[in-house]
Amino acid sequence: MAPSLYDTRLEEHRRLIEESMERFLLRTDEAVPLELNRAMRYACEAGGKRIRPVLTLEFCRLCGGDPQQALPFAWAVEMIHSYSLAHDDLPCMDNSPMRRGRPSAHAAFGESLALLAGDGLLTLAFEVMADAARKEMAPRSALEAVYVLARAAGDCGMVGGQVIDLQSEGKAISIGTLERLQEGKTAALLKAACVLGCLAADEHPDSARIRAADSFGEGIGLSFQIVDDILDVISTSEALGKPAGSDEENCKATYVSLMGLDQARWMARSRTDQAVEALSVFGKEADSLRLLAENLLTRQN
Ligand code: IPE
Ligand code: IPE
Ligand code: MG
Ligand code: MG
Ligand code: MG
Repeated sequence: MAPSLYDTRLEEHRRLIEESMERFLLRTDEAVPLELNRAMRYACEAGGKRIRPVLTLEFCRLCGGDPQQALPFAWAVEMIHSYSLAHDDLPCMDNSPMRRGRPSAHAAFGESLALLAGDGLLTLAFEVMADAARKEMAPRSALEAVYVLARAAGDCGMVGGQVIDLQSEGKAISIGTLERLQEGKTAALLKAACVLGCLAADEHPDSARIRAADSFGEGIGLSFQIVDDILDVISTSEALGKPAGSDEENCKATYVSLMGLDQARWMARSRTDQAVEALSVFGKEADSLRLLAENLLTRQN
């Protein structure tokens, strides 16, 4: 078995996330078609590393909150991430039949339902956030959180990055464009996951902590995508739970295709160092995140 990414504390967050999935995703409302709900849950089910929601719970704790209170925000981020994967795998995007070690959403449910399950997850993410906010939170932090997640998920974040990714296929793009691509498609949501944790903790969050969360998320996000690109080249489909070699097949522009494996490894290291530096405001309390940042560099999937 691959070594765990998480120490005991983060493992506890991961467990909370797994245990609370049905609370946010199981719908009993008759208006929700059963098959749609099944597809939405399928896209979110186990097999994922849960890095984004673990980060949300840990930043909430680091800002003095109870990780439980950040669960709606953590699930909102994970729903958007899971929808992005269901759409990323579609034949019109990366055309991948496998995800998290089993058939991808469209392979299991058909293209139309995979598309609509993604739409459903994106919308449910904001429903879940708004519901928690109206019942439990100070309005200012709640609105700020909705704004942060919307910016990260949409055209200036993940969706924008995915468009640059598709437009860059088969092209020798500049490093600047590659950075914008990776910042959008991957780092934006990881940054939001961290910042949302701070916002869930506190009515008037300390701006130095929010800046640190943002900077940690950015460093770890850029490093995360570079490692994903490296693993696509050096690992196997079995270890990844998704097809290895898919970037080359799709003529994707990545650090590896543009600069080679060694440069890519160096860049991932340097982005991780940037992330870890940003944690200094939290002192030793952030040791779990320091270890996570290192483990993400050497992860197997
Ligand atoms: C995969 O994300 C997509 C990228 C941004 C590289 P993860 O590697 O976090 O996917 P899961 O959630 O663990 O399946
Ligand atoms: C996708 O990047 C990032 C998303 C926004 C989904 P990839 O296309 O490299 O992700 P994988 O390798 O399919 O997980
Ligand atoms: Mg892709
Ligand atoms: Mg893909
Ligand atoms: Mg990839």
